[in-house]
Amino acid sequence: MAKRKRKSAANHNRWHRPVLRGLVSPKRSVPPHIKLPPYALTGQPPPSTAPPERTPEEIAAMRHTGALAAEVLLEVSEKVAPGVTTDALDCFVHETIIGRNAYPSPLNYRGFPKSVCTSVNEVICHGIPDSRPLEDGDIINIDVTAYRDGVHGDTSAMFLVGEVEADSQMLVRETLVSLQKAIEVVRPGCQVFEIGRAIQQHAKKHKLGVVREFIGHGVGAEFHGALQIPHYYDARNSRMLSEHTTFTIEPMLTLGSPFLQMWDDDWTAVTLNGQRSAQFEHTLLVTSEGVEILTQTASGECAHDSTAEAVGASVFGPVSQRAVA
Ligand code: MF3
Ligand code: CO
Ligand code: CO
Repeated sequence: MAKRKRKSAANHNRWHRPVLRGLVSPKRSVPPHIKLPPYALTGQPPPSTAPPERTPEEIAAMRHTGALAAEVLLEVSEKVAPGVTTDALDCFVHETIIGRNAYPSPLNYRGFPKSVCTSVNEVICHGIPDSRPLEDGDIINIDVTAYRDGVHGDTSAMFLVGEVEADSQMLVRETLVSLQKAIEVVRPGCQVFEIGRAIQQHAKKHKLGVVREFIGHGVGAEFHGALQIPHYYDARNSRMLSEHTTFTIEPMLTLGSPFLQMWDDDWTAVTLNGQRSAQFEHTLLVTSEGVEILTQTASGECAHDSTAEAVGASVFGPVSQRAVA
């Protein structure tokens, strides 16, 4: 009998051991001097009423809170290593945010039990930090949101744990590039579908899936404002973005099909086929010139840059200086 031909090792269906859930530690406390967002005690945010555009005062506050979130993401990225539990990352983010007189926005948002989302490998988003140690070869998204001076700053990035195989590196790289391409289309008068179109076109080129169930959102005094930013193309999303609008872009791309399944914790979204998923996120402001990234440090750094270098993507230039075409 002829020997069955072995599939090449470089296919996109490499099998990885599934992520197993660990134990979730008790709820961390917040000292009384921290100003709480409206949902912190009840778990329920009031219905969204904020317009998409921000006042000059809100914009100033969002620059500060955005920089704070970016700094925390940079700091926690240095803790990522094999053997470190996602609960330890949560502890670090919680303490660091509180140390800067801010509130960790995820904590008790619609009942979310922790202060940051940690999404490993096939977890698409909203992973709950627990006792699982990171393993050599894992990829992880850390999604930091902080609330200070009455506004939220929301940003996330992927990080590599030890030696990561080539397909996962490609996934991480092209997800970051898709976010960069989406940011580049933002300007006053830009239609919402242009954002999803830029992401979907880039994903298609690299045969990656685009998750449809989770989308970018308005952000400001509200964690999730009413403005919806899908990461796929749909001509019906024809709303125009005006100057002073703030929102997130946070594409989730997958190796293979983007269909998902929820764990029975009602938060953790995983790919149905067990293949890996990646996500990057920024909070953005529409300016007269085009767009400003709010989730970067005062000197224009963010955690995206070091991952870009690790996976061989070029670091994003200062789009905020870009003139409207
Ligand atoms: N930061 C996430 C986002 O990008 C939202 C997390 S909601 C939580 O929109 F409850 F899971 F924290
Ligand atoms: Co977000
Ligand atoms: Co986020």
